[in-house]
Amino acid sequence: MNYDPRTGEHNLAHNPFTSLVVPRPIGWISTCNADGTVNLAPYSFFNAVSGRPPMIMFSSAERKHSQINAETQGEFVANLATYDLRAEVNLTSAVVPEDVSEPDFAKLEMAPSKVVRPPRVARAPAALECRYVQTVRLKGADGQQFQGSIIIGQVVNIFIDDAVIENGMIDILKIRPLSRLGYMDYATVHDVFAMERPAPIPAVVEAG
Ligand SMILES: Cc1cc2nc3c(=O)[nH]c(=O)nc-3n(C[C@H](O)[C@H](O)[C@H](O)COP(=O)(O)O)c2cc1C
Repeated sequence: MNYDPRTGEHNLAHNPFTSLVVPRPIGWISTCNADGTVNLAPYSFFNAVSGRPPMIMFSSAERKHSQINAETQGEFVANLATYDLRAEVNLTSAVVPEDVSEPDFAKLEMAPSKVVRPPRVARAPAALECRYVQTVRLKGADGQQFQGSIIIGQVVNIFIDDAVIENGMIDILKIRPLSRLGYMDYATVHDVFAMERPAPIPAVVEAG
């Protein structure tokens, strides 16, 4: 089948798009509002956008609390969502008033971050502390403006629980990161395999 997502006529029971870009890592974003109230919410339109320097982004379908706080307070933390914390991750996606703190609501202990004001989730095995850099407002190929935005931050401190470091490397099977599939589905990592990158192919030397 083929369909044009601009018209939405896929004729399937549910929109298939989010099942086709999978698995998506989940950035569990903690921020503070101007009063210092801690906000926490999962974002699966989330990824690293650069390794050098480490920079990450999350995409908000509209201007939600995480985006407002990151923009106005200049900082956010991406906590690593795990299989063990799946119920709490889901709970913190509930729409609550701005003065309600999701960590309280989900009974989640927070720990102070090293260099930014928003705290990290104490049980998350890793957290990326970020300074807000820019917001890219989404627009279509025809220039039409949409409600969604990409929020980009530069990582200024990385917390890693020493318990997930084995022989100087992150043991991903100990972390069991939670990722988002389509529909109501999630996945975690069970199988890990390595592949060496191909050696550079030498240029063909012309004969004669
Ligand atoms: C696993 C998961 C992933 C989500 N990913 C996104 C996302 O990428 N973008 C988005 O706008 N909302 C996403 N949501 C919904 C937000 O978490 C939800 O709207 C939340 O209330 C936003 O909170 P905030 O207003 O405190 O930022 C997701 C929800 C879940 C459960």
